[in-house]
Amino acid sequence: MEEKSTERAGSGKRFYPHEMLDTAAVTAHLETALLGSTMAVLRRVDSTNTYIKRCFSALDDGFAVLAEQQTLGKGRRGKTFVSPEGGLYMSVLLLGHDFPMDAVMLTVRAAIAVKNALRNLTQLPEIGIKWVNDIYCGNKKVCGILAERVIGKSCDFTVLGIGINVFTPQSAFRNGLEETAGALCDFTDIRFSRNELAAEVLNRLEEVLSVTDEAGTKLLLDDYRASSVIIGKDVYVLGQGEPLRAKVLGIDDSAALYVQYPDGKTDILRSGDVSTRLAGGEETE
Ligand code: BTN
Repeated sequence: MEEKSTERAGSGKRFYPHEMLDTAAVTAHLETALLGSTMAVLRRVDSTNTYIKRCFSALDDGFAVLAEQQTLGKGRRGKTFVSPEGGLYMSVLLLGHDFPMDAVMLTVRAAIAVKNALRNLTQLPEIGIKWVNDIYCGNKKVCGILAERVIGKSCDFTVLGIGINVFTPQSAFRNGLEETAGALCDFTDIRFSRNELAAEVLNRLEEVLSVTDEAGTKLLLDDYRASSVIIGKDVYVLGQGEPLRAKVLGIDDSAALYVQYPDGKTDILRSGDVSTRLAGGEETE
């Protein structure tokens, strides 16, 4: 049977109709012991992170929720995450008593896992990590990660949310985002399935979360640094005041960013306090 395709306006790429997210189709590719062993697929939700926070008392450790669309997708530092149909929006519940890692180190590991999953399926070696939680392809952000730790009297858990622009139309990115955001389908003609991608993310995530020894952790941080798209580059540091231009010197083992300002002064930046924008017009976080 002939496969239908439509030309995406402006991209010059073929946009193939994609299959719907489906629990059985994801499970068919899963190699995990815990992550995704219970799972839900939603057509539309406010935010998959919020969904887990709302329902957590009824959910199992490792539960994954996937959505076709989010109406109130959340990003870091109070930003929204544009989440129309065509993307893959997923969150995983990690219960606190088994899960001592803080949100920053979880974000670092998740970024490595997603980078690995995306490289495996798209075969695009240029997929890299922008400190601290973004995945880039070329000069476009194709994925964001949001880890939220919830500690209360009767609860202690972490929600790890991952949003991937897979077939997201470029027209969805407005108000400056068009400069900085992109979708994987703009970079490859390989027609991978979002179900397979969801499983691959969970597979690679479980792999990196299972590393507990010092040597393994060090290797993960080396991988994070080696995959960085900002080390050695000029960025704008976005904190409370005016953006400050700086050169990125490196990332240490606590995932702090070392920068040098034009006057020669150096600084150590923590992800909770600042974000960065690549100098040269790309990206806003
Ligand atoms: C960022 O870019 O600052 C992080 C974006 C994280 C988006 C994902 S999509 C799935 C999960 N649900 C949300 O509301 N946010 C995360």
